[in-house]
Amino acid sequence: MKTLILALFLSFSAHAVPFEGHKLLITGPSPLAVEAGRKIAAQGGNVIDVAVAVGLTMSVTTPYYAALGGGGFAVVKMNGAVETLDFRETAPAATGKDYYKDLPKEASITGGTAVGVPGIPAGLFALHQKYGKLKWEALFNEAISLAKDGFPVSGEWTHKDASEKSRFNPAGHLAFYKAGQENYKPGEILKQPALANALALLKTKKLKGFYEGPVAADIVKTVHESGGKMELADLQNYKVRWLKPLTTDFEGYKIYLMPPPSSGGIIILEALKLIDDIQLKSKSPLSLDELHGLAEVESRAFRGRSLLGDPDFHKNPIEFLSSQKYLDEMAKTISYKKSKVLKPFTDADIPKESSNTTHFCVQDTEGHAVAITVTLNNNYGSAVVSDKFHIALNDEMDDFTTHPGQANMYGLTQGEGNTVAPGKRPLSSMSPTLVEKDGKVVMSVGAPGGPRIITAVLQVLYRVLAQNMNVDMAIQYPRVHHQFNPNTLYVDKERFSPEILQGLRDRGHTVEEANSMAKGYAIFLRPDGVLEAGFDARGEGADGGI
Ligand code: DON
Repeated sequence: MKTLILALFLSFSAHAVPFEGHKLLITGPSPLAVEAGRKIAAQGGNVIDVAVAVGLTMSVTTPYYAALGGGGFAVVKMNGAVETLDFRETAPAATGKDYYKDLPKEASITGGTAVGVPGIPAGLFALHQKYGKLKWEALFNEAISLAKDGFPVSGEWTHKDASEKSRFNPAGHLAFYKAGQENYKPGEILKQPALANALALLKTKKLKGFYEGPVAADIVKTVHESGGKMELADLQNYKVRWLKPLTTDFEGYKIYLMPPPSSGGIIILEALKLIDDIQLKSKSPLSLDELHGLAEVESRAFRGRSLLGDPDFHKNPIEFLSSQKYLDEMAKTISYKKSKVLKPFTDADIPKESSNTTHFCVQDTEGHAVAITVTLNNNYGSAVVSDKFHIALNDEMDDFTTHPGQANMYGLTQGEGNTVAPGKRPLSSMSPTLVEKDGKVVMSVGAPGGPRIITAVLQVLYRVLAQNMNVDMAIQYPRVHHQFNPNTLYVDKERFSPEILQGLRDRGHTVEEANSMAKGYAIFLRPDGVLEAGFDARGEGADGGI
């Protein structure tokens, strides 16, 4: 009992009062972007108009993870059924299974060889084309003026900028350093006139303003100058995909999850079923039994990740992994007394945490909602910034199996289904998720954080839906993360008592306290009709709305 009280005490150091609203709420990492979205809502914009304005503004205020040169996933419900949108980067046509064979490992991380064909502009446009209410052109005001006139950079911005200087190409220095040289200090004004020009073209010429014409030419030229092989046709041929969500029932709610190329949806689906199977709910929050049970569930749910890949190129064993037979077998191997390590399907490993992805949600009281996760993969992606328009380009190619059998930048040795092929999308951990009750969306949630995204979304869902916590409390709550391989239980640093940590070790876990767990963002519609939103005190963020 004493250890439980201590653990709970440690966990309440963060704030736990959600932001409330009665019409439409936004939660995301950038206060300026949330405010841009609030203005669109106040002008009568719907959930999608608001989300597009937030996404465009984030490409200016947080280019290290949300630049136009990245990609992402959205789970959305507007007028009909819940759908998912895949606007992840694709491998350029000149790449292939052996593209990285004779290149150094760094080739999929830094420089032109690391860059996948960007999807963010096409993703935002597709969402707007299908569901937007205001004019596309009306959603750019804040993004363009913040790029042109500047904005005060945050502590997060300067931290990310300072740590990466040596990786950038010359345009990167010009775009993100004072006079191309010096770091900005928090509160100093960053102007991005070149990016404002790219946004203006996207505004007036729509997708042709990015995927054709001077912006496309600039991206191709810069990628070539940085050693890569992207061509104009790669950009022209880029297409988003609308995909059917994975679904499962949990605690009387219906959960809508991102299918492959996300690995997150199927892992969360398996974990929620295993949580039911082992009756985790009978264990007190943050008790040794509960944390151990969560760890065992997570590691088993992650076991099948190495079997996954882009569904257009690879047959994913979704039916097998979500079958009652397989899950019963997995549940039977869980004991509350001692941790047990299962045999891997393959030698695959999973990437470690970094912090260069982000998530935002927009939801209204009518049941319309969108959960969007976007990424450049690494900090500022490939560190290649386009010469003329200063667009930071991703290094999503490193999410592929680049050197079979060898670990990638996060220590990842991935499966056969995830090898490089022209036009293929790399496997992802991004897990935007929506939850319905009686046919109406009541919750939107997601997170950045590599594979820790998956266990963060799982634990926030569990705390809210099974334990009735408010979203803010659920997000701030201490988390445990096990991704099967390596066989290590990562726990939030300084959030658990020594007794709990020792108790987990006594049950056989190799416990490591981790500084950075994923940053959750979520909105929940309470039965009394009030929306509540929360962002993670582990990073920057804001809630807002009308
Ligand atoms: O798609 C993925 O799984 C990775 N590119 C995400 C990387 C990530 O979340 C890094 N940081 N927070």
